[in-house]
Amino acid sequence: MSIMNAKNKIRFLPAITAAALVFLAASGWTSLAHAQADSTPLPRLATQDGRHALIVDGDPFLILGAQCHNSSAWPAMLPKVWPAIESLHANTLEIPVYWEQFEPDPGRYDTSIVDTIIQQAREHDVRIVLLWFGTWKNGSSHYLPLWLKKQPEQCPRIIGKDGRRVDSPSPHSAASLEADRRAFCALLRHLKANDPVHTVIMIQVENEPGSWNTIRDYSPEAQKLFTAAVPAALLKAMGRNAPVSGTWPEVFGANADEYFHAWSVARYIEQVAAAGKAENPLPIYVNVALRDPLTPGPAGTYESGGATDNVLWIWKAASPSIDLLAPDIYQSDSARYLKVLELYSRPDNALFVPETMGTPEQARMCFAALGHGAIGWSPFGLDYSIAAPQPPGAPQRTDGWLAPIALNYEILRPIMREIARLNFEGKLQTVVEQPGELTQTMDFGNWQAVVTYGVSWNSPARGNPEPVGRALVAKTGENEFLVTGAFCRVDFKAASGGQRDFVRVEEGGYEKGVFRPMRIWNGDETDWGLDFRSTPQALRVLLGTY
Ligand code: DGJ
Repeated sequence: MSIMNAKNKIRFLPAITAAALVFLAASGWTSLAHAQADSTPLPRLATQDGRHALIVDGDPFLILGAQCHNSSAWPAMLPKVWPAIESLHANTLEIPVYWEQFEPDPGRYDTSIVDTIIQQAREHDVRIVLLWFGTWKNGSSHYLPLWLKKQPEQCPRIIGKDGRRVDSPSPHSAASLEADRRAFCALLRHLKANDPVHTVIMIQVENEPGSWNTIRDYSPEAQKLFTAAVPAALLKAMGRNAPVSGTWPEVFGANADEYFHAWSVARYIEQVAAAGKAENPLPIYVNVALRDPLTPGPAGTYESGGATDNVLWIWKAASPSIDLLAPDIYQSDSARYLKVLELYSRPDNALFVPETMGTPEQARMCFAALGHGAIGWSPFGLDYSIAAPQPPGAPQRTDGWLAPIALNYEILRPIMREIARLNFEGKLQTVVEQPGELTQTMDFGNWQAVVTYGVSWNSPARGNPEPVGRALVAKTGENEFLVTGAFCRVDFKAASGGQRDFVRVEEGGYEKGVFRPMRIWNGDETDWGLDFRSTPQALRVLLGTY
């Protein structure tokens, strides 16, 4: 029986008899049967002891993602997307579904492009995160279907403090909420019926919702709500210090405008998400245009209404159907980047970075995100529709543009299941190089992992010319570690004070959860420490002391 035939047969597992299962077990097909049987559960977010995992096909999964450009989700553009995904070794593509394309006429849904994306993703062995460009896209409503754009009274723009319209949709319009909810439900219903193997693993609802150029809506409807009582659910979320009741200005004073808009936008999107989930409960998230995490400045200087760090609590109270709030990190300095990772990784919020920059320096931040327990990380704009076109027929990765991210994914993709699991179990730590910091330490109790940058042989550490170093260490046993990284040296120190002995260092990878060594490192490869450069390598390290 060929593998193909076996797979096709096993697809009908629910119908096969217990006797057939016994036969499969006896003939060594159990693991395949297991994999196939497990491939049908719905992706879900799991939380345990304040840590999170995205469960895909029954096991923790790590999104090693890339988001295409905004206008790349068209069949004519996909040939410019897949080569980049292949070069990157990404396991997930984030790609939009445009409301204007999906619902060309009221109630008529064109699923052809979604179907094409899903089919091509399967051919490329890649999972999909669909981005619903619905009512909001970067604070505006430019993706409304044409027939809705022609009825502005149905989907009105909000009104600024000066009485002028602002290019941002009103979160108070029942008609636009209803239209968005209906279309989003149609999308999720379609996925339920047509994606039984869950190529689509997660959905982003809207895109960077909120408003630029105004803190809130000042329309008459909004004014009425603003001067009415703050909803009880929000008062409850304030905890013991909450007043019994009050209007928005009474309860929140100077923050009232901002908090009111956050609540209004979050409630609207909650209703879209909840309805979609009732059709098909895939994990759903909302991405965030951030405020500066260290020196935010006053409301009005950043997008208002989205889940910025100061209103995460409002979003959590308003939108229980949204699994997580995900920061789009375009901060270029590392202190700010790391602060965002800290702010969005919480016991009540799994960290997922759905957009970030793909520069060489930012590449290391993938490891920093993993150190905060991230379920995924995904730079924006990684396709060949605009930048760095790859000439037809050219070998992959000739331009170097994608190489820094590709290196991450070449390192992590073969071990992504283990990384996701070890992170969920709280056994994994990472460090990333900071300018001027030559050594960093990770504490694992009986062992410390010590990482240095810019070393070779027995020369002293100098740091890399650019801060590109990154290391990941996970404790897999009392004296055993999984170690990987790039542009760094990893060594260990025993807490007992004994001298570190590399008892055995194996380079290899995992097959069905079991580490399979391909060679043993010794001699020059271990005498000075464990050196990682730009070759993807994973090590199983057994330590002792003498
Ligand atoms: C953030 C948005 O979410 C993306 O869709 C895209 O517009 C990027 N900014 C950068 O252009």
